[in-house]
Amino acid sequence: MTERVARLIREMPKGENHIHIEGSIPARTALRLGKRNGVALPFDSEAGMKEFIAKNVVDLNSFMKCDRLVNSVCLNEQDYYEVVYDLGEDAKRQNIVYQELHLDYPLNEERGIPIDVVMKGYEAGRQAVLKDFGVEIVFIAGIDRSLPPEQCSAFVRNLEPYLDMVDAVGMDCEEQGYPCVLHKEAYEIAGKMGLFKTAHAGEDDGCQNIWDAIDILGCQRVDHGVRAIDDPALVRELADRKILLAMCTRSNNMTRLFPTPADHSIKPLMDAGVLCSISSDDPPYVGDLLWEYEGVVENLGFGEDKLIELARNSLAYSIKGQHHLPAFDDWVKAWKAEQN
Ligand code: ADE
Ligand code: ZN
Repeated sequence: MTERVARLIREMPKGENHIHIEGSIPARTALRLGKRNGVALPFDSEAGMKEFIAKNVVDLNSFMKCDRLVNSVCLNEQDYYEVVYDLGEDAKRQNIVYQELHLDYPLNEERGIPIDVVMKGYEAGRQAVLKDFGVEIVFIAGIDRSLPPEQCSAFVRNLEPYLDMVDAVGMDCEEQGYPCVLHKEAYEIAGKMGLFKTAHAGEDDGCQNIWDAIDILGCQRVDHGVRAIDDPALVRELADRKILLAMCTRSNNMTRLFPTPADHSIKPLMDAGVLCSISSDDPPYVGDLLWEYEGVVENLGFGEDKLIELARNSLAYSIKGQHHLPAFDDWVKAWKAEQN
């Protein structure tokens, strides 16, 4: 990679549309909270965490097991606050100006943590990150698709007191065996509450789940959606309807969705006119957003213009609108002028 491309990746203002708080607890934070709360982890250093992940994560299901394990260090409001605050610090370092964070409360609920504890901690973290680092955070409340539909509908209803901090609903966790359509009611409720709708679909399951996400759940965005490439009619539909695929190529490589990283579908999908952005998904497992951008250069041969397109999409198709675009476009103008 040229020094200029490396600098573009570092310095370009970026949005991140797809990152899960519970899967993103930085190693330093997990170790500190584990110690403070007396929660034993199977590693005691950042390198140990990396080694543990490399040994144990081979696909989406084994990833979810690890995700649940590390998240168990969070018990109190202060813990949830610190996780978001530390993520904000990492975002600032990478020149991320806008970040859409999935808050997967059900992963905390299954350990008996009340919703108010989690939401108050996250919201205080969000406000502190804006104040101290200038990073705008938007929350997507994530449905755990592996739970019974009635429980997922109840989760969405229970978001009512938090509508000033939650802007969207999403759906994640294990995909195989849990089709989108199971949660039609939860999405209907979310729609009535005025929430933006997105869902993980076509990650480690097929195109039907993507069709169902956009046609039955009414999703305005799809997370991952990498399998769309298998259905030309779906590719056309996504392109025509300007539905953003919030992709995470390194994460997909970790869970081994393609034979090799060079086979990732983001390139042919973008070539076919599908809007894509890239995100880290779960940085301690996968690497941060800078690493994600470096990945599409190294594995797929993306050049400056494609990198700028990805970053622009992250801000142009954001849940909150296009308010970061003017500053982004000015930055790109200055960057291009520098070359001439
Ligand atoms: N939760 C965190 N990361 C996820 C992913 N890649 N797919 C589904 N659920 C997730
Ligand atoms: Zn995800």
